[in-house]
Parts: sequence; C-alpha cells; structure tokens
Amino acid sequence: MRIREATVADRDAIVRIAHASFDRVYAYFAVRGMRHAWPFLVAEGGSSIAGFLEGILFHGTPPIGYVYFVAVDPGARGMGSGRGLVQESLRLFRSRGANRVFAAVPRDNDPSMRLFESLGFERVARRVLWRWYRWRGLSVQMRMLLAPHEVLLTHTFTDLPPASSQEVSRTS
Ligand SMILES: CC(C)(COP(=O)(O)OP(=O)(O)OC[C@H]1O[C@@H](n2cnc3c(N)ncnc32)[C@H](O)[C@@H]1OP(=O)(O)O)[C@@H](O)C(=O)NCCC(=O)NCCS
Repeated sequence: MRIREATVADRDAIVRIAHASFDRVYAYFAVRGMRHAWPFLVAEGGSSIAGFLEGILFHGTPPIGYVYFVAVDPGARGMGSGRGLVQESLRLFRSRGANRVFAAVPRDNDPSMRLFESLGFERVARRVLWRWYRWRGLSVQMRMLLAPHEVLLTHTFTDLPPASSQEVSRTS
C-alpha cells in the first residue's frame, strides 16, 4: 500500500469510496471538498485506490491542520490504509508549520475514533475550537461547524522545530 497525492485520474474511485463510506450528506461534502483539499491523498494498493484523505490547512500563525474526510473502501479496511493516510497528512501539516491538527468524528463511529486516538489525537471540548479559531473569522467557523453528534479530536505536535515557519516561507 502506497500513499501518494491524488490526481484527477483518481476522481471516480474517490467518488465511489465516498458513497460507499458515508451517508448522502457527508458524501456530497466529501465529493465537493475534493476541489480545495490540501493535503489530498490516496492509498493505492496494487492498481486500485483503497482510500482517500481530504485535509484543509488553515493559514495563520501558526497554521492549523484539519482532517476533513478520510475513507477506505469497505473491502480494503483493516489493512492499514486509514492509518497510513492520516499519518501522511500529519507529516504534511507539520511540514507547513502547523502545530495542531483537528478532526471531527461522529460519536458512534468507533473505527474512526480509534484510528485517530491510536495516532495521538485526544478528545477536547468544543469550546477549544472557538478559542483557536475566533480570530480567523466567520468563514472558517462556518466550515468548521461541528454537527451535534460529532466529537472534536485534536493532535498537538510537541516537537515542532522553531525554524519550521521560516522553512515554509522559503519553500512556498
Ligand atoms: C475509519 C476508517 C477510515 C479506518 O480505515 P482502515 O484502513 O480500516 O483503518 P486501519 O486498518 O488503518 O486501522 C487503523 C486503526 O484504526 C482502528 N480501527 C480500524 N478499524 C476498526 C474497527 N472496525 N473497529 C475498531 N477499531 C478500528 C484501530 O485502532 C486500528 O489499529 P489496529 O489495527 O492497530 O487495531 C474506515 O473504517 C472508514 O473508511 N470508515 C468509513 C468512513 C469514516 O467513518 N471516516 C471517518 C470520518 S471522516
């Protein structure tokens, strides 16, 4: 299984996995989210796409990462694709200087909750979101709005090198 950036050629497979993984509303937002996602990753097993991840990097000082959607083909679950996708997104968020990454997971979604917790995400109160995002304006808050049945999870990088923001400005 290989994690790589998604390309336009992966679109059909991603749409199929989104519809196999989410209810209609979530699938709609996952398909729509492809346009602006970064990072936008797929897990490739052999010649087929096993799963995808859509992230959002909120710019600021420091930037904050958001795992917007992660889904694995029902026939390919339990083989490490989900973990590989989230791990790679963490690496990419961190490489852009983010010191925190959020995810929102339905309360009853055990596989997803455990996936994130196994990667060091912790449940936090919703007010943490407002504290961190207040200054970023209404549009961000609207996109980050949590459904009542969702739990907020956050991963904090404790070992972020102080020079990372300078690296970002050099490379971007
Ligand atoms: C959540 C999801 C992405 C996990 O993908 P996956 O490729 O099956 O997960 P992995 O094989 O990488 O498993 C990683 C960890 O997740 C947890 N996990 C995965 N499947 C699980 C299950 N059925 N029950 C409990 N924990 C599970 C485990 O902690 C696992 O680690 P372990 O194998 O060491 O026990 C997948 O179940 C999925 O697509 N679900 C539907 C879409 C969704 O709910 N997405 C998340 C919300 S955006």
